[in-house]
Amino acid sequence: MSDKPKVFVTRVIPAKGLDMVRQLCDAEIWKGELPPPKAVLMEKIKGAEGLLCLITDTIDDEVMDAAGPQLKVISQMAVGFDNIDVAEATKRGIPVGHTPGVLTEATADLAFALLASAARHLVEAAAYVKAGRWKTWEPMLFLGADLWGATLGIIGFGRIGQAMARRARGFNMRVIYYDVNPNEEVAAQLGAKYLPLDDLLRQADFVTLHVPLTPETHHLIGERELKLMKPSAILINASRGPVVDPQALYQALADGGIAGAALDVTEPEPIPMDSPLLTLPNCLIVPHIGSASISSRNKMAEMAAANLIAGLKGERLPNCVNPEVYRDGA
Ligand code: NAP
Ligand code: GLV
Repeated sequence: MSDKPKVFVTRVIPAKGLDMVRQLCDAEIWKGELPPPKAVLMEKIKGAEGLLCLITDTIDDEVMDAAGPQLKVISQMAVGFDNIDVAEATKRGIPVGHTPGVLTEATADLAFALLASAARHLVEAAAYVKAGRWKTWEPMLFLGADLWGATLGIIGFGRIGQAMARRARGFNMRVIYYDVNPNEEVAAQLGAKYLPLDDLLRQADFVTLHVPLTPETHHLIGERELKLMKPSAILINASRGPVVDPQALYQALADGGIAGAALDVTEPEPIPMDSPLLTLPNCLIVPHIGSASISSRNKMAEMAAANLIAGLKGERLPNCVNPEVYRDGA
């Protein structure tokens, strides 16, 4: 019987974080390629003092009940935490950790890569070459949209949204943004202009989404919003799938309501193979790889381990989603 605290880790994570956890904890690590099914998670977490989880795990009251009252900390290896019932954790005095900042640049890199790929048809063009269809230089082949001088509309002007604005400056883009809490000081530094959502949608050549998934942002982009966009516009989503209504997106792309979409995230995930979005040539989809740079994932694993360990020791989590669990609430 180990005197180290029992923890459950819901997937193999980069060694930098896993080694920290193994050193200090009696850790069970789920080795499956897929996330543990809920029943398994509930079994494994029984009696645990700590949980290190991923966005693919639903952490609700049932899971917390299954763990038992000794559960001291929930540490998520991601910045988004919409899969966790934070209100329920707070009610129980359990701090929830996450990994902000260390994945900002990697995620913005990927979102910008999606933007450029969709604008210039990179994926189709590469497939065309591999299929042996490249016969000559053609005046009308794969004509796309300019990035240089285009208007970028950023929805959600937090860490990643601002990182998109920094990239856009290098492409001489006009940057407009929408956020529930406009940050005019930062916007001025980045040369970005606040616009109400509808105006942003009407003016942008590229619309890029960087809001968290909340009840307010669920299907934030639906039929009405897509109809406001230019027929030449391209939508990029590297936030959460359910921020966009997939049926409305399909219709807009199929009818020429907008020119294209590039998605790192879908509703649901993974996207079902019979999703009509997969039939569209103007919809580029990659499997939620926004933060998937080697250095970002290493830092995320270390940060998640540090949050877990702090919580087990009864110390304040370095990155806590619900600081109201602490007496001073700060
Ligand atoms: P962040 O710094 O918190 O930025 C989110 C911004 O959106 C904040 O300024 C927030 O304002 C604003 N916002 C919240 N609700 C809004 C609404 N209803 N309408 C407009 N703006 C709203 O978070 P981040 O680090 O940039 O990450 C953003 C999201 O990206 C994460 O929550 C996560 O879901 C997603 N993400 C995805 C990947 C990926 O792999 N694709 C990687 C990392 C993150 P307040 O702060 O005032 O609430
Ligand atoms: C990834 O999607 C994250 O929220 O970190």
